[in-house]
Amino acid sequence: MAEAFHTVSDYRTAIERVRAAAAAYYSGPDLDMDDADYDALMHRVAATETAHPEWKPEDSPTEVVAAGAGVVGDVVHTEPMLSLDNVFDEETLRRWAARLDKLLGRPAAGYTVEPKIDGLAIAARYEAGRLVQVATRGDGRAGEDVTGQARRAAGLPETLAEPVTIEVRGEVFMTEADFEIANAMRTGTGEPPFAHPRSAAAGTLRAQDRTYDAPMSFLAYGVRGLGEGPHSAAMAELNRLGIASTAGTPVCETIDEILVAVKELNENRAALGYGIDGAVIKADQPADRDLAGSSSRAPRWGIAYKFPPDTRTTRLKAIEVQIGRTGVITPVAVLEPVQISGVIVTSATLHNFDDLVRRNVRPGDTVFVRRAGDVIPEITGAKLDERPADSVPFEPPATCPRCGGEIDRTQKRWRCTTGRACGAREALSYYASRDCLDIEGLGGKIIDMLIAAGRVTDPADLYDLDVPTLLTFDRMGEVSAGKLVAAIQASRSQPLGRVLTGLGVRMTGRSMSRRLAAHFGTMDALLAASPLDLQEVEAVGPERAVTIAAELAELRPVIERLAARGVNMSEPNFRPRPAASPSTSTSTSTSPSTSTSPSDSASAGSDPALAAAEPFVRLPLQKEDGTPMTVVVTGSVPGLTRNEGNEAVERLGGRSSGSVSKKTDLVVVGEGAGSKAAKAEDLGVEIMPAETFAELLRTSGL
Ligand code: IVH
Repeated sequence: MAEAFHTVSDYRTAIERVRAAAAAYYSGPDLDMDDADYDALMHRVAATETAHPEWKPEDSPTEVVAAGAGVVGDVVHTEPMLSLDNVFDEETLRRWAARLDKLLGRPAAGYTVEPKIDGLAIAARYEAGRLVQVATRGDGRAGEDVTGQARRAAGLPETLAEPVTIEVRGEVFMTEADFEIANAMRTGTGEPPFAHPRSAAAGTLRAQDRTYDAPMSFLAYGVRGLGEGPHSAAMAELNRLGIASTAGTPVCETIDEILVAVKELNENRAALGYGIDGAVIKADQPADRDLAGSSSRAPRWGIAYKFPPDTRTTRLKAIEVQIGRTGVITPVAVLEPVQISGVIVTSATLHNFDDLVRRNVRPGDTVFVRRAGDVIPEITGAKLDERPADSVPFEPPATCPRCGGEIDRTQKRWRCTTGRACGAREALSYYASRDCLDIEGLGGKIIDMLIAAGRVTDPADLYDLDVPTLLTFDRMGEVSAGKLVAAIQASRSQPLGRVLTGLGVRMTGRSMSRRLAAHFGTMDALLAASPLDLQEVEAVGPERAVTIAAELAELRPVIERLAARGVNMSEPNFRPRPAASPSTSTSTSTSPSTSTSPSDSASAGSDPALAAAEPFVRLPLQKEDGTPMTVVVTGSVPGLTRNEGNEAVERLGGRSSGSVSKKTDLVVVGEGAGSKAAKAEDLGVEIMPAETFAELLRTSGL
């Protein structure tokens, strides 16, 4: 039980805070309080009311549906849109299920376990199979008419497969991809970005003037008018009619099964591509629901099991400047440690210096931090009303903080003009480290000396070192020089996974490098892989795939020099996958002079089936069989006109097209993109941000 407030004034202040936070939650562009704080406060309010019922006003937030849920419109709901009670742990969930059984006088006949989507509840009416009205929840009794904007939500079609008259209830929300697009559009018009997908969905759904038509999605979790079958069957029927729903979520018999399903949902939440804040457990049978009934606030037949939130607030202690391997300079946030989705987060990316200004974030701010899937935590915005009076904007560096070199600011991502040489020390130390090439004796001091003497700038230079050269350095004797040269030469036989790790490809670490090596077998095959091929590897999504492809293209000269010096470029014991196609072929050639040539990527080494294949260089926008991918560019690609964007598609091996259909393979989405992006999302077509496309173009040199 949460701790009750001791004084009536503390209790009243808490009620006001709950109301203000709820109002901001439903209507404001930014969140006022994160979910965990809100829930904790609500629990204290409830505990106080148990201890002091005489303090409780009639309209206490614990009594009212969706306290302060923003705009109450004039669409009166056919029946109230209720809320759900929350539980936060296994024990309370067990107690809830036991209470429901007791209420029914027998065990409930099955429960569904659904994701609790973090969006906005709406009621959508279809008449004779046509969408006629969509309303927000409002205060539960009446909501605002949002028919115009809601029509654009993917999953809420204009017409159904059959002319049924039904009312569908569900959640309008933004997927992570929708959210990126929404913020690109919003900042493109000079407005501050949304702090959270939910506020973005709320803003878009309620936008009257359609200044930006960001994509949204819909998922139904309830329906009236489809007969009296179980809830799970009704959800499947909605899918059949063309409405996206929670169909296919587990139906459980026992509380133990429910707990397993809840756990699985929490574990898989990162892969959903949209935010959920818990699981909703519901009695599946209408008879059980009728018998259990509802209170004025929430049904007794359903409950929300809340997960720890994946957006939290914390203090931004400082902004540090990080310089990458290639000289890219990025601001990084140092955070007061905060737990998000089970992980302690202490730093987060701020993308670039423009972004820092756009998001209006300063050291000392209380910021929203989000962890989405595999992605590095990011700061989505600051709570401006909590900004310390003495805060000052962050001052970006005037020169490279690592080497003092000049900074190239012509691109969004700033770079040290010294480029790779600027990061040589870091890159070489990493390459030589234990988990990489494991070169004993190559420590920081000797690396510094070698760089200062101009002997090495990248890892390939190490293999040119000999004993006489090393002897010219301080504190290098015959024995240590001999040992070091031997250790360097011995490192040439390390497996491909380690070589890859040592190269420090962005968005990969040890295990991802190993996975890539195990999947492709040779550096040839990896270099020839398109972003789509790369996505065949576990945990490689579109973003990561493009980054890896771009990084490898950038690293190609070093890789070729390493191979020319006899560094092993294959994975021992690699067995090619049976369906190996030319582009992912598995040349076993270890000849240093040819092993990294792109035209060799299809030469089949010892495999006679593959040996017959023609030499084949695959362009980034070609399919496995070499045919062009159909690509639509919508919105602007940085630095390119519309025409240049389409030309670039062709240069990269694709076929550019003006309209999105099921046949489209890829949609490049830039600032100002419109309905095509939403349609792509709707059809499940792969989406690539315009920046990524521009980077692919740049690094491919095409
Ligand atoms: S059932 C009568 N199922 O959570 C109860 N709600 O906190 C109707 N929500 O108002 C709600 N996902 O906005 C239900 N799978 C789901 C849900 C869900 C998200 C939202 C909905 C509801 C709120 C309650």
